Amino acid sequence: MATIFSGVQPSGFPTLGNYLGALKHFVTYQEEHDCYFCVVNQHAITVPQDKLELRDNTRKLAALYLAIGIDPKKSTIFIQSEVPAHTKMGWIMQCISYIGELERMTQFKDKAQNRVAVSSGLLTYPPLMAADILLYGTNIVPVGDDQKQHLELTRDLAERFNKQYNDIFTIPDVHIPKVGARIMDLGEPTKKMSKSAENSNGYISMLDDEKTILKKIKRATTDSEAKVKYDKENKPGVANLLTIYSLCSGKSIEELEAEYEGKGYGDFKEGVADAVISQLKPIQERYYELLASEELDAILDKGAEKAGSVANKMLAKAERAMGLERKKRKK
Ligand code: AQP
Repeated sequence: MATIFSGVQPSGFPTLGNYLGALKHFVTYQEEHDCYFCVVNQHAITVPQDKLELRDNTRKLAALYLAIGIDPKKSTIFIQSEVPAHTKMGWIMQCISYIGELERMTQFKDKAQNRVAVSSGLLTYPPLMAADILLYGTNIVPVGDDQKQHLELTRDLAERFNKQYNDIFTIPDVHIPKVGARIMDLGEPTKKMSKSAENSNGYISMLDDEKTILKKIKRATTDSEAKVKYDKENKPGVANLLTIYSLCSGKSIEELEAEYEGKGYGDFKEGVADAVISQLKPIQERYYELLASEELDAILDKGAEKAGSVANKMLAKAERAMGLERKKRKK
């Protein structure tokens, strides 16, 4: 049995990209592994957030975890800020990371671009992410492609700590899905689909209704060739829609290319929209039921307690290894 950890930021509501690249895979791990799924709200505040929206999005994301099929009897679901060991370990990780390596993170460079004021948290959030993962002795981190670099940093920091202080951290492996690891923006298919994107036509929110999904897919950028063919280089819009279609319908890309041979993009886009709607509709129904129930808070209280007790043990080990305890331990 391996330990699995992953998280999503409540920096908006998850998109189809977050779902296909990460969330969907969470559910498959819980049958055989010890899973921790976290709502990483402290990552979200690295860029300005409206406080009421952040509070709502945090709860909503936890409800979505349950709606996609994460079972609180099998997995631990919790909110990052409710387990203080994360920021304490985050500080330790910051102290062993170098400014140069943090400045090289592509996500930092992307997010800092065009901002008048860049918070120092935006630079130092990867060490917090490392802390999130290392606190649980994590073996596997299922994430989308954009988090690969942060995972490499996590491994480096764990190795650095183990070498400099004491060999306490498990070196985690990253699991990135073969297909769907980077779902692209519908309007600008060379850019990643992001929940905090300014133009909402570029992403499908997991709560978009049928009409909105159809409208957004109909507007998605394609090309003038009118040929349904997977060619990421020359036809990035169609390739992205084919990936989405395949993952939501279970049909292979080759099957879909054959099905739409000689048909225009209009039919194809309707097919994509139908597949997305059938994937999201049952999740949305469960989500609205859960959000209205009292069950959610009880699950999150229990999750924070369980995660806290595991995380505190690892934190104590790390503090001891660095000399951050006052009393000598009795032999
Ligand atoms: N477009 C994507 N395709 C596939 N996977 C994706 N992920 C994100 N975007 C895509 C994966 O979703 C998980 C949660 O991501 P996150 O909330 O931690 O932050 P992010 O990676 O920065 O995602 P967003 O949607 O782009 O958020 P904002 O707009 O706030 O920056 C991760 O496993 C991620 O790889």
